[in-house]
Amino acid sequence: MRKPIIAGNWKMHKTVAESVELVNGLKASLGNVSPQDIGVVVAPVYTSLYPVYEVIRDHWIKLSAQNLFWEEKGAYTGEISPAMLKDCGCSYCIIGHSERRQYFGETDESVNKKIRAALHFGLLPIVCVGESLEQREKGTTFQVIEKQIRGGFTDISPLQMQKVILAYEPIWAIGTGRTATPEQANEVHAFIRNLISQIFEPQTSDELCIQYGGSVKPDNTESLMKQPDIDGALVGGASLKADSFASIVMGTLQAYGKA
Ligand code: 13P
Repeated sequence: MRKPIIAGNWKMHKTVAESVELVNGLKASLGNVSPQDIGVVVAPVYTSLYPVYEVIRDHWIKLSAQNLFWEEKGAYTGEISPAMLKDCGCSYCIIGHSERRQYFGETDESVNKKIRAALHFGLLPIVCVGESLEQREKGTTFQVIEKQIRGGFTDISPLQMQKVILAYEPIWAIGTGRTATPEQANEVHAFIRNLISQIFEPQTSDELCIQYGGSVKPDNTESLMKQPDIDGALVGGASLKADSFASIVMGTLQAYGKA
């Protein structure tokens, strides 16, 4: 059975002091949880990465960035390289979130460059894909996801793919309170898994962690996580409070029969 991974995307929220308070609260709430059963990742803003790392450096909670730039160093004002993120204690990096595609012009091509740079420097990518409401209503969900995946994973080897987490985040479910039903989400997850087995190898797709994201809350976690192809969650709003994020971790353990 694949081990579920729950990641909290804090987006553009929290000062250093607030971030440290949140991760301390989370650490305390997860006191009885075993890292054998579940992975937990937090993705603060850049300015809070190192302070949060100092709290979790001896803990099994892992640190993620929310973005990176693919060059190693140079005249790229305002950008951060994969090596700099590693230096701050990051193990993971979210890549291609729909908010970055929507507001910051990210394309499948830039997502591909970022995935390759992350892997080259030993960061584990959490790669986001997902359709808009208009695309879903037009019936093009699978085409949209296939294009994002084929474009994003161009020239990635099966061995590299083993290091990737995929996150299916339907845009219409992000921050709207409107979650995909467990069946709706699982249908896309199964499609993604099948596509990955065609592009890479069946073993890569069997082992791939595919998270669901979009209005995940404590009260809908268990039903989503019980679906056979959903292996965790990428959580926005509900990851900003230690108790609700910890409840999502507990709900996942419940769904996996580990609580
Ligand atoms: P919400 O959980 O706030 O809907 O955000 C989901 C998301 O975008 C996580 O990356």
